[in-house]
Amino acid sequence: MKINCPQLNKTIEHNGNKRIFDILLDNNVPIASSCRGNGICHWCKIEIISGSEFLNKKSKYEMNLKENVRLCCQIKSKGDITIKSTYW
Ligand code: FES
Repeated sequence: MKINCPQLNKTIEHNGNKRIFDILLDNNVPIASSCRGNGICHWCKIEIISGSEFLNKKSKYEMNLKENVRLCCQIKSKGDITIKSTYW
């Protein structure tokens, strides 16, 4: 499976077992966070350009977010996704 980050010209391969938050950090992609991935700070928001159907359902921390916005610490993906951030 792939995570495409067109703003960074970067594509990351993964096996679907880790959170997008951890995969991005493991691959030196900067992700803002003050709660260390616990769903509280909302700094890790990303926009899902495509592939949202491959993501788990919204967590309780994501209920007030726009449809295509997710907290990358709350999601895993079972397919190829393309994402975007306001600070990349
Ligand atoms: S890292 Fe704080 S909400 Fe995701």
